[in-house]
Amino acid sequence: MCGIVGYTGPGNSVGPIIEGLSRLEYRGYDSSGICLKLDGQLQILKKEGKLDNLKALLKEKNPSSHTGIGHTRWATHGAVTTDNAHPHGNETFAVVHNGIIENAGTLKKELIAEGWEFKSQTDSEVFLVLLTKFFKQTNSTLQAITKAFNLITGNSSFVIIEKASDKLYGIKRSAPLVVGDNKETREAYVSSDPFALIGYAPNIYFPQDGVICEGVVTANAVTINFYELDLSPSTRFKSQSNAMSMDATSKGTYEHYMLKEIHEQAALVDKLAAYYIKNDGRKILDELKGFKPAGWHITACGTAWHAGLVIKNYIEQINRQRCAVEIASEFRYKNPIINQNEVGLFISQSGETADTLACQELCAEKKVSTFSIVNTEGSTLFRNSNKNFLIHAGVEIGVASTKAFTLQALTGYFMSRAMEGTLDNPALFAEVQLLSNRINEICADAESLKVVAEKIYTKKGFLFTGRGVYFPIAFEGALKLKEIAYVHAEGYAAGELKHGPIALIDENIVNIAIVGPELLEKTVSNVEEVKARRGIMVVVGPKDSPEIEHLADLYIGLNFEGLPNLAPLMVNVVLQFLAYHIAKLKGTDIDKPRNLAKSVTVE
Ligand code: AGP
Repeated sequence: MCGIVGYTGPGNSVGPIIEGLSRLEYRGYDSSGICLKLDGQLQILKKEGKLDNLKALLKEKNPSSHTGIGHTRWATHGAVTTDNAHPHGNETFAVVHNGIIENAGTLKKELIAEGWEFKSQTDSEVFLVLLTKFFKQTNSTLQAITKAFNLITGNSSFVIIEKASDKLYGIKRSAPLVVGDNKETREAYVSSDPFALIGYAPNIYFPQDGVICEGVVTANAVTINFYELDLSPSTRFKSQSNAMSMDATSKGTYEHYMLKEIHEQAALVDKLAAYYIKNDGRKILDELKGFKPAGWHITACGTAWHAGLVIKNYIEQINRQRCAVEIASEFRYKNPIINQNEVGLFISQSGETADTLACQELCAEKKVSTFSIVNTEGSTLFRNSNKNFLIHAGVEIGVASTKAFTLQALTGYFMSRAMEGTLDNPALFAEVQLLSNRINEICADAESLKVVAEKIYTKKGFLFTGRGVYFPIAFEGALKLKEIAYVHAEGYAAGELKHGPIALIDENIVNIAIVGPELLEKTVSNVEEVKARRGIMVVVGPKDSPEIEHLADLYIGLNFEGLPNLAPLMVNVVLQFLAYHIAKLKGTDIDKPRNLAKSVTVE
């Protein structure tokens, strides 16, 4: 979703701002802009569409400025227009904003009645106008920020520069914000994502909600000051060194990040097993031995929700504990029935998904223990949860989540085995190694999946079906395909087809049926039902199973042996490849599909 990068220091701010925004492009956006301090004035350049449009404008004007802020906008309030793009600025301030000001409508009416004018339709400009109004009253930027911030509701982060100085200011509420500095080069940075600051700011600081950050550069030093809203000094921030490296984030020889990330999975599975079973992660899991809360409430969105459905199976079948899985945007508003001796488990790649964060907050308010399965160390979810189980997937750039799903589900499996007290069983490590070998085999034979894709990519719709442990995989396969190939795809429990969706079946509809060795006969009869209606059958099933192979138009045979718990993760890799190849044949923007954002930081 929107991205923010700000800089102040002796260098030209344009370089780090544009590089930072380029790194955040994967998150999704529809316009971009920059405000630079030039000859004592705040000058704004904005463009609709790709960041390349802004880059071209900057190339033409070639500005050099010591202080600036940049933004990639994903429209929420107001259409995708240059006026609505950020930064928003006037004679005194320029502001970039991520998130939503929920009471913007009311505040805007009041400000218009007082005679203030607006140039855009955005909620963000309301903050700019409030700042300006309060600065007029107080002649203090810090007081203006406090007063404006106290008036607005909703989750937001703001970064501000001013005409009066070269300082950088930032503040947030339940939205990501990171400040950084480089003491040697005397540079201060601010961003919505530490990824933008790799190689620039060796020290990074995560402010808590309502902490004002102020980056100040003098002739001898760079300082980051933190203030509470009453302007007393604040210690409510976490500092750490920025350990991420850019190498891990290049595409290498792969055509797309998504393809690279699919291929990374086998090695990451091995690494995660070593971490949680044999190395540092083991002590984190050992704390779960014998753990038996009254119940689990898993909440997450999209792919992470599907991983939650897989984990539910582990908790219920291995641990025989109650586990509810809900979509975060539903859970947060349903006044959930949840008791203090239960656990809230939140799953998220980014750790910044607004709805998931709201569920964590809600559980924390109810004094329920909050656990996370999360990829991004230092993210809001990571910081706010009582216990974190990192999935160690590295940065995931492809908007369509692949490796995060596999590692989220696997982390949940390790948690379940830790509760059971069987982490030391050598069979566990062997089982995970087998999974990684099988994923490697699928990757090595990916060309055969391309052939399947070539035969079906022009079809009108796709129904993914699966039973039991494969039911969440049917959901995930369908989501992946619709996200990147822009075709209609739905996931169904195989037994549900005849309760409605079978009406859709004709020769233009493909049924991708996952048929595991469990409940095989039952699923075979579902396949027969589709066949009888001239639907195109693609079956992912056990190798050498003539009883289903003869029913399938296209058969993808896999070795399910030795993977009683982890086969769903293996099958899912096949569906990732199918989605990838279908999207490629359709010529879509695979890594940055239209209308999507990598991290959904608004509800
Ligand atoms: C998956 O391919 C998605 N793009 C999306 O559904 C994603 O999984 C969801 O938005 C949750 O994100 P999170 O894991 O960062 O919380």
